[in-house]
Amino acid sequence: MSRRIIPVADVSAIPDYSGPAHAPRGELTDTLARPLRDLRISVTDRCNFRCVYCMPRAVFDKDYPFLPHGALLTFEEIERLARVFVDHGVEKIRLTGGEPLLRKNLEFLIERLAALKTADGRPLDITLTTNGSLLARKARSLKDAGLTRVTVSLDALDDSLFRHMNDADFAVADVLKGIEAAHDAGLAPIKVNMVVKRGTNDTEIVPMARHFKGTDAVLRFIEYMDVGTSNGWNMTEVLPSADVVARIAAHFPLVPLEAHSAAETAQRWGYADGGGEIGVISSVTRAFCGSCTRARLSTEGKLYLCLFASSGHDLRAVVRNGASDAEIATAIARIWHTRTDRYSQLRGSASATPDASEPRRVEMSYIGG
Ligand code: GTP
Ligand code: 5AD
Ligand code: SF4
Ligand code: SF4
Repeated sequence: MSRRIIPVADVSAIPDYSGPAHAPRGELTDTLARPLRDLRISVTDRCNFRCVYCMPRAVFDKDYPFLPHGALLTFEEIERLARVFVDHGVEKIRLTGGEPLLRKNLEFLIERLAALKTADGRPLDITLTTNGSLLARKARSLKDAGLTRVTVSLDALDDSLFRHMNDADFAVADVLKGIEAAHDAGLAPIKVNMVVKRGTNDTEIVPMARHFKGTDAVLRFIEYMDVGTSNGWNMTEVLPSADVVARIAAHFPLVPLEAHSAAETAQRWGYADGGGEIGVISSVTRAFCGSCTRARLSTEGKLYLCLFASSGHDLRAVVRNGASDAEIATAIARIWHTRTDRYSQLRGSASATPDASEPRRVEMSYIGG
């Protein structure tokens, strides 16, 4: 049996919500004056892919102890928590996994979330990160339920390389069909995320850029990160975004574009000939913690303040203990007020080999990307 490598309830604090209430006013800030604006909700810790950099098959095998059904937040619980987060200032909700489209009847959750409004009455930006394998089938119903847009992961156009990377024999053609269906359903703007591993799929950078150039999908290149503990991360496999940009610019000249917002993870580059844009997400070589407005809610209702956290705050316990909305709001406010996380910034760019003495970080498939 594989050893469980994610923190479970015993190491996650149950937040304190007794004492003076903290009513939501839409303006929570942490110790570094960062507001709470984005909530990423993982709806399942399972995935039908076994990407080598995320859920290596040797760890996530048939004996891996995925969460039992009763541990998962129900849609009612997710909606309730999301409503309180929105009252505290959240404007964007991203559904993640594992693979979120594996969660049964996900459309029902999206319908509930789509009905929420920001404090000043605007609809939320509701998006989802998917591996695309089920998207062709589901794009229309997701749109009808109220999903705004999607982000699809795709690491290669070369079919045999893609099958090697997802390690579950999924074909590139299926993902491309999913992207097309999302386009037809109006789930725009579509973003395509490619994790770049030097020596594995960096040969696909230019073919991927060529493929998506001139389409309305925005291709983004992500530096391979030392997230979790199971992927055997090594700095030598990181290709800095500056190199990605240089390789593409050698074929298609690029010009820098202004950021849409300060909290954006990607730096934008436009094709000089007007063929659209790409993005680079440089979590390793150019940390963006200073503007990190993201909170992550795990499948079992733990709140994580950083992608690299090793423990979370057990909001499910708060909800299942019978707390009122005001008490849940107080718990969340207290947690965010004390947030100090800025892992990528502290780690710096060069020597990030995980140290065996550090507490185990949560896996990305558990809290979402
Ligand atoms: P949009 O631009 O609004 O679509 O959102 P986003 O940039 O957050 O997009 P997405 O969720 O697709 O994130 C892209 C990738 O950036 C993730 O898969 C992670 O690899 C990385 N990323 C996102 N958020 C963080 C973060 O808070 N910290 C770090 N280190 N990496 C992140
Ligand atoms: N480094 C960078 N990105 C990763 N993702 C998963 N694991 C890693 C990693 N180690 C990305 C996926 C997907 C999103 C959920 O996170 O490719 O785009
Ligand atoms: Fe699944 Fe996404 Fe992780 Fe790949 S990166 S194993 S598709 S959760
Ligand atoms: Fe935010 Fe943590 Fe990522 Fe920094 S490392 S951007 S604090 S999630």
